[in-house]
Order: sequence, then C-alpha cells, then structure tokens
Amino acid sequence: MDHLFSTGTDVLDLPAHATPAPEDERLPRHLYQRWADHYANAIRANVLGPHERMPSVREIRERHDVSHTTALQVLRELESRGLIEARARVGYFVRTQASAMPAAREPQKLVPFDADSGSFQRIGERIATYLNKARLVGEFKVDLGSAMPAPELFDASFLNRHAIALLREQPDLLVRAPSAPFTHPEFQAAMSRYALSFGLTIAPSGITATMGNSEAMNISLDALTQPGDVVAIESPTFYGIVQAVQARGLRALEIPSSPHTGMSPEALELALRNYPELKAVVVVPHLQMPLGATMPDSHKERIVQMCSRHGVALIEDDIYREFMEDPGVHRPCRAWDSDGTVIYCASLSKSFAPGLRLGWMNAGRWHERVQMVKFSRSRNMPMWPQLLGARTIGSPFHLRHLARLRQHLHRQREQAAQAVARHFPIGTRMSLPRGGLSIWVELPPAVNTARLYDEALALGIRIAPGDMFSSTDEYGHFLRLSCGLPFTPVVEDAYRTLGRMMHAQLDH
Ligand SMILES: Cc1ncc(COP(=O)(O)O)c(C=O)c1O
Repeated sequence: MDHLFSTGTDVLDLPAHATPAPEDERLPRHLYQRWADHYANAIRANVLGPHERMPSVREIRERHDVSHTTALQVLRELESRGLIEARARVGYFVRTQASAMPAAREPQKLVPFDADSGSFQRIGERIATYLNKARLVGEFKVDLGSAMPAPELFDASFLNRHAIALLREQPDLLVRAPSAPFTHPEFQAAMSRYALSFGLTIAPSGITATMGNSEAMNISLDALTQPGDVVAIESPTFYGIVQAVQARGLRALEIPSSPHTGMSPEALELALRNYPELKAVVVVPHLQMPLGATMPDSHKERIVQMCSRHGVALIEDDIYREFMEDPGVHRPCRAWDSDGTVIYCASLSKSFAPGLRLGWMNAGRWHERVQMVKFSRSRNMPMWPQLLGARTIGSPFHLRHLARLRQHLHRQREQAAQAVARHFPIGTRMSLPRGGLSIWVELPPAVNTARLYDEALALGIRIAPGDMFSSTDEYGHFLRLSCGLPFTPVVEDAYRTLGRMMHAQLDH
C-alpha cells in the first residue's frame, strides 16, 4: 500500500465531482483524517476498486508508521463516510460508488405470470396491511415511502391567489353543479392545447376531467371489463393499479418489465395470443412505477399496434411524463394510436397541485361509455379545480414550475443514490431513472424488505417494500425509495439507519 502514498499527488488530483463529503470540510485535520482522506481519494480515483479488500489495521499501522488507534480510526472514518464497509471476521472492503453501481437486474423470464386467485388475493392483503400500518403511524419522521414531491416544492401562494381570484370572479362557483356528464369547456380547451405541446392531437370534447389518475384508471377498467376478465399489467407495477384490478374481480396477468425499457413487448405478445379473456393492457410508459423505466418509442409503437390488432384496449397511465429530464422528446403511446385503441390518463396531482386531485383522460373509442361510467360513479369533477387548472396549465408560470421541480428532483435523486452507495450493503444494485420521484433498489437476496418495513416504521421511517408491487415472489429484497423530500441531514440519517438494519439482517 506504500505506493498509494508515494503517488498521492496523482490520486489527489481529482475531478470536481469527487470532493470529500461536506461534513469533513468542517473538521480539523487530525492525522487519522489525513490518512482517511488519502484512502478516500484513492477509492474515488478507482485506485482501490469496488469490493477490493482494504489494508488491515496492522498493515496501516506498519506501512504508515502510525499508532494502532490511528489506524483503526482511519478505517472507522472511511466507514462513516460510506466508502468502505466491515464484513464480520474478514476485514474492510471498498464499497461501490453511486455512479458505478450496477443497475437492478433485468427480468429473467419473458413469459406472462398468471397469478392464481390465492396469490393475487395475498398481494391485495399485503398492500392493505402496509397501508394500514402506515396510517396508524400517521406522521413519519422521514417518509421515503410515498412517491410525492414535498409540499415546499410547489408554489402554494400562486395557486391560492388564483383560487381566490376565481371565487371572486364567479361567486356562484361552489353552489352550482351540472346534472349531466360535464367537463368544463375551459378545462377541455386548456388540456387539448397542452396535449398538443407533447405530440397529441385531442379534440377538446374528447377530454374528461377525473378525480386524479386513479379515478381515470378505475373508470377505464369499469368501462372495459366484466368480473373474471383478464388485464395485463406491468410486473412490478404501481400498487394502486393492482388494487383497481382486484376491486373489480378481474385477473391480473403480470408482464415482465425491464427497469430500463418497461413492459416486454415479446411477453405481451404471448399474453395477447394466449388469453382470449384479455380485455385491457395497462402501461406507465414514462418513469414506470416502481422501476423508473421509460419505454423506447419503438416499443410504444409496437405495443399500440399489437393491442389494436387484437382488439384490446391499452390504458396509458402517463402521470410521470412531465418528470422526465427531457419531457419534450417523449411522446405518449397515444401518439401512435390511429383507431382509438388507447385510453390516455394523466394528472396534475404529482406535478402541479396535489390538493386539487385533478386528473383527466381521453378515452379513445370508449369515450361515450367512459363519460357515463364517470357520471354514475362520482358525478362530475367540481368546477373550481377545473377552472384553476384551465387558467394555469401550460402557462409560463406552470412551465417554469415544472422545470424547477425537475431540477430539485434531479439533485434529490443524485443525493439519494449517493446515500444508497454510502450506507447500503455491498451487492446492492440500483436503477437511477432519467427523471422522476423515486429510485428502485435491489438488495442482496438475504435482505427481507417486508421485515425492513416494520423495523423502519418503528423508528418513524417509511419505505415501500418490493412485494407491494407484484404477486410474484421476486421482489422480496427490493425497495422503492422516494426522492421527493429535500435531502437534509435527517434524511441522510434515515438512509444510514436503513443501511444498519440491512447489515443487521445480513449478519444473522
Ligand atoms: C403510476 C401511478 N399512477 C397513478 C398514481 C395516482 O395518481 P393520482 O394521485 O393522480 O390519483 C400514482 C401515484 O403514486 C402512480 O404512481
């Protein structure tokens, strides 16, 4: 290891991104810290690579002529910076840095998974149990489980001003309610214009306002299916989609999905050929939840064509397109639809105004039916959220807000990824998506994230365990972590705590 010291200037000549952790800069430079800096630089410059064994305490002591205590402090300091980790009775090993972490694994088999009714029921119960446990806790110290930007990332005062102005201008807004299916024409016109900005031509009359994306999804399933029908969903998928399928007595066919490109077109083709009861396919093409995958255009086109050929509806849940780093270049599947096969659903509830619960949809050839289902389920959306949306969506303010939100989330995702690299066990894999609100983490198989959920919740930390997102038993060591919170020392501490819990599980 002497060569490390003698070539120290090479190692110290680091690129800008490889600066020491900020807390180190505030500390006086003790001897052990200088040696820790030295090894930290070597790790960051990849002179000491991921998983390489660190010199032992004795080696450090002898090579650098320092005391036993100093040598031990060097290793502990590097461990506390998240650069190395101890393995019981073996020694210290270099951890993988965030930028070098391997991505979560691709699905091993590309065939649809047809859950029997027992395992499908079990996933419904699991989801309910997790949500109930979270409800009983109420306030979390750190919520890494809910994929939502923190309230401070929205501009409440802008929305308040517009809401108040609207009520002044139309004082009877809260005492009127149309008694037939109705979406406000101002909202329809605004969303039609907005859709044009990302490649969709939708006539204003084809737009229906809904209670968030969730209602749009539920209405679509009501309009398309009968109990016993089959619906193809991504595997893993957002648990709200599983709940919607289950609530209707439908059968879910899980289609293997890549953390990189989303639903496998090959596996979907198999499903379409082999399941005549298949009535609808649900996809989240941009920043799929929980994988963070984005479908390439060629897959979108293929999937739309396949569904059209088989006469099966494609329900497109596009809630995350605006969270893409480069939203302008991503067109929804609906852009490839020429015969009304796609039901397009989107929402303002993540990107602009969570409190409005305002979503919208264009139901393709099922438009009339969807209007009636919506009206019979919950009547019309209130007028004032629609008008508030109509007057703000697509405005320069709205677009600036989205750009700012993307910037904040970009930083928060990077910080989260670095915290994962610092604190989670060696062998962790992670998909860092090209935008969005969360990261998808694959832990060593011996970590059980259902157990981790309970352990973390007891300390006020909420996470979303992998088995919430699929009835297959493949995701018991996966975790979705929300990056919606600004990355404070309290959040860092939550990552440290989760890492400790994972190590404790591995040591048993
Ligand atoms: C893929 C996906 N669709 C829909 C929703 C819910 O949308 P909304 O709040 O607009 O009902 C979520 C929320 O997490 C989601 O991840």
